[in-house]
Amino acid sequence: MRGGCLVSKQKLNQICQKINRIFKLYYFIALGIILSLISKEAISVRNFDLVNDCLIGLAIIALLLIVYLVAFLISMAIEKDVKYKYAKGGSLYRWYDMIHKYNTKIKWLNKVIKNFKEGYGLDFSEIETFVSPSGNKGRYEKELSSKFKNTQFIVTDLNIPEDHEESTDNYIYLSQNNNAFCIKEYLSNIGVFDVNVIWDIKGAIWYNSKGKDLESILKTYYDVLSSEGIILIDGYEGTRIGAVVNIFLRRFGLNVGYPERSSFTQIRKNINSTILSMYDIHKVGDGKYTMYVLKKKIVLKEKKIS
Ligand SMILES: C[S@@+](CC[C@H](N)C(=O)[O-])C[C@H]1O[C@@H](n2cnc3c(N)ncnc32)[C@H](O)[C@@H]1O
Repeated sequence: MRGGCLVSKQKLNQICQKINRIFKLYYFIALGIILSLISKEAISVRNFDLVNDCLIGLAIIALLLIVYLVAFLISMAIEKDVKYKYAKGGSLYRWYDMIHKYNTKIKWLNKVIKNFKEGYGLDFSEIETFVSPSGNKGRYEKELSSKFKNTQFIVTDLNIPEDHEESTDNYIYLSQNNNAFCIKEYLSNIGVFDVNVIWDIKGAIWYNSKGKDLESILKTYYDVLSSEGIILIDGYEGTRIGAVVNIFLRRFGLNVGYPERSSFTQIRKNINSTILSMYDIHKVGDGKYTMYVLKKKIVLKEKKIS
């Protein structure tokens, strides 16, 4: 029943997204302005046939605009549930491939791993269990798993893409839709109770970056981390406006940066005393390679963070 509902909502979202992609808002605005100017001119020269044609044109534009707006609103309502954004046909369906291509170009993963070793003393070959709860297709984790053979990599996501990396050797992809808030349950189902590293790059933390949601996801992660456990998140500096400019420039083939703020910029203002009672926070690297380590604190009074 739930699977059926997912498919139908996904299909509906796909259709709405297609409509929004075909009819862009600025097409309507431009056509509307052109037809209004022509009809104004036609009225002044008393060419009523042309005025009629323009009015029919404007009525068609108004109708299409309504279809566009309805599709836009339906899609927005469906995508309030994040998994539909990344599902086939969703507005961010192609996000992963696009960013992966960009990160490969700037050698992001290698540089970040090197920075962790040099700047924080974190040697990936010494990690026992590495979990990526919002790993999407899991390509970065797969690459890491072929470099660090002694580490167990576990990847999953709220929405499972069809072309995710398949499980092999020290890389497990859990292919049921898994919410990061259920990390304890799905890890215990495969016999994992202590995690050394949680890798959450623009994932569940990003999407739960405010108030109680942020406290809650960080508390959920806290409970599965080993006593020395850490969370790794992305932390490049960037504003909302900068992200929008980058989206715009991408349309012209200029691949200049990320189309959104980093996880740390997203949560920075919401880090409160409850969060600081659970984690110490360290910055590692700079520029596009900036990462943050949230290191679990051993809290003697557990009551404080309940
Ligand atoms: C922007 S993508 C990032 C994917 C990947 N971490 C990366 O770095 O490329 C965000 C991902 O977070 C996932 N996500 C969002 N909220 C989640 C949650 N509560 N539990 C698990 N995954 C979640 C989405 O489904 C999506 O695949």
